[in-house]
Amino acid sequence: MIKVNFSSEVDEARTKQILAEIKADPMGGWMELPHKYDVGELARIKEAAKKIQEESEYLVCIGIGGSYLGHRAVIEALRPESEVKIVYAGNSLSARELQYVMNEVGDHDFSINVISKSGTTLEPAIAFDAFRAKLVEKYGAEEAGGRIYATTDANRGALHDEAVEKGYTRFVVPDNIGGRYSVLTAVGMLPMCVAGVDVDKLLEGAGEMCASDFEKWDGVDLVANPAVQYAWMRHILRGKGYDTEVFASFEPATIYFNEWLKQLFGESEGKERQGVWPASVVYSTDLHSLGQFMQDGRRNIWETIIDYPTDETNAKVVQAVRTAHGAGGIPVLTIGVPSYDEKGFGELVYFFELACALSAKLAGVNPFDQPGVKAYKNELKKLMAE
Ligand code: PA5
Repeated sequence: MIKVNFSSEVDEARTKQILAEIKADPMGGWMELPHKYDVGELARIKEAAKKIQEESEYLVCIGIGGSYLGHRAVIEALRPESEVKIVYAGNSLSARELQYVMNEVGDHDFSINVISKSGTTLEPAIAFDAFRAKLVEKYGAEEAGGRIYATTDANRGALHDEAVEKGYTRFVVPDNIGGRYSVLTAVGMLPMCVAGVDVDKLLEGAGEMCASDFEKWDGVDLVANPAVQYAWMRHILRGKGYDTEVFASFEPATIYFNEWLKQLFGESEGKERQGVWPASVVYSTDLHSLGQFMQDGRRNIWETIIDYPTDETNAKVVQAVRTAHGAGGIPVLTIGVPSYDEKGFGELVYFFELACALSAKLAGVNPFDQPGVKAYKNELKKLMAE
């Protein structure tokens, strides 16, 4: 199990009440997901992944924000063995980047997993247009349709409508789970399966973190729960005026895990003029760039080290940083990850989802909406219409 190296004062009654609110929230479906997984859906996902592995050298994952960061985080961290190379598109509006990915796929056999809950986001829509055309050109309309996997809303949106009309294989983003909390749904599961991630182990890890019986509260030691401890520590630090949290990892392959964390906390907490700015570093490379600031710059920061099991030399750097930055006057929290594998990442994903939702509630904001993201999408739509 994940361990934290600090102990916070926890208001148990308030925690219990907030957790009950999250569970009852129309967007709280992720909370019990590891224990209430749709087994039939998982079997369909595995079947689709097998088909993709049999007929493709590349899988183009098209999506942005919560529709790509979570699975990219796990895939890039674990670097599992697979014959299929996963590439990502539709996460920017850069034509140069799109062309680069198209060139990389080149003449290889490929399939597409287009992921968009709303089915209307511009970045993935444009990339999908381009890759769909490439697929049709290579295989003809009929075979192309069999190589498109659409993960979207069960009933609504342009992508849903097209998928139904053209008969693409469809997977559902559940109504009660938002983008950044959707790593363990079909959004993340299909690409992860294709990439060779053992998703059963991932769910097992998440399930262990979610071992508390959320139906009955009897016998649940909330105060000892590391995610609860971490959420309250964040609340205490925020109350003391710290306004920036720097997630620090010592494993270069976890850059995208940090990116997912920034999205999770940024979109969940940053509203109504509230929130802690989520930043990240990867050591030891960043010790030679941002290390100076961490050691000696403005003291509005705290550092949260995600301590993955590592080799002896790297572990010494973790120790050195903890001591040096602590002496430099910034609070240093450590989250100890039990294993660098699917189980460990399953635990981590659930740990941060729970801690983030609780933190946002403690800050008095809704963890599950993202009005700011919608605001920019609307402005962009207006400009594109012109
Ligand atoms: O977390 C979120 O809700 C957002 O980051 C969305 O995932 C992102 O905007 C993409 O939206 P959609 O899946 O509707 O294309």
